[in-house]
Amino acid sequence: MSEDAYIDFAVLYDEWQALYPRPFAVALAPRIEAAVKKHGSRVPVLGDLACGTGTFAHWWAQRHRGWKVYGTDLSDAMIASARKPTSPVRKKVTPADRAPQFFVQDLAATSLPEKAGVLSCLFDSMNHLLAAPAMSRMLKRVRESLAPDGLFIFDLIEEERFAETFEGFSIIDGPDLYVGMQMGSEERRGVLYGDATFTFFRRQTEHWGRLEFNLRERCWREAELRSLIAKSGLSVVDIEAIDPSEDPDVYVPRTLWICRNGP
Ligand SMILES: C[S@@+](CC[C@H](N)C(=O)[O-])C[C@H]1O[C@@H](n2cnc3c(N)ncnc32)[C@H](O)[C@@H]1O
Repeated sequence: MSEDAYIDFAVLYDEWQALYPRPFAVALAPRIEAAVKKHGSRVPVLGDLACGTGTFAHWWAQRHRGWKVYGTDLSDAMIASARKPTSPVRKKVTPADRAPQFFVQDLAATSLPEKAGVLSCLFDSMNHLLAAPAMSRMLKRVRESLAPDGLFIFDLIEEERFAETFEGFSIIDGPDLYVGMQMGSEERRGVLYGDATFTFFRRQTEHWGRLEFNLRERCWREAELRSLIAKSGLSVVDIEAIDPSEDPDVYVPRTLWICRNGP
């Protein structure tokens, strides 16, 4: 994703997420919290990379007094939404002294004002990286942005279930928003890609507005990613399976990766 693909989606993103019982980032948040507790973090600074509209950054800031929280995303429009003090998915407004700071940044150019004890990257955002050089650049910046022993936590769509995840047509709707999702996948030179076309119909004063949004994601195989992670100087400390039959709000089978800065 080299340009702001989310420019139009940004205005609908939180409304779309509000069609589910919980926004995805909120469904995943307690697992991130549990991983940080289990593996430990000495520096109370969290950076959520590809933070979108800032849901997880705000969630963390509201619950972890004393932490400094940052969010970064490539999309100007998503960051503009994250900076708004209220949104449909953020019931509470973060007090000003704990409000996260947001920056427009590519994953490959992550640069925070201070080293982080925890970096996160949630909701398929790592699957948005389509090529190994882009992944390597991102991992290098992650390592350079983490404090010694800092944690990097991210989710990926489960590789064995990737093709079935990107298959078929589904609909979710509410009184003012209708979303159709058409999915497909293709293999090219041994790499599996998933394509999703979202069609939104949103109620406006006199009519329904229509918006289409196309997304391509890559299936990252554990072996290739482990090798890129090792080359970056990070180490994998745990990989957890996340099963949507246990928590339907995480939508599809995933893995949650916990990496550490250092051996
Ligand atoms: C599915 S959204 C997830 C947003 C957020 N993490 C959440 O949980 O709601 C994927 C996000 O990744 C961002 N993104 C995609 N490629 C990126 C890149 N190369 N650098 C930074 N952000 C990127 C998009 O702008 C979008 O906000």
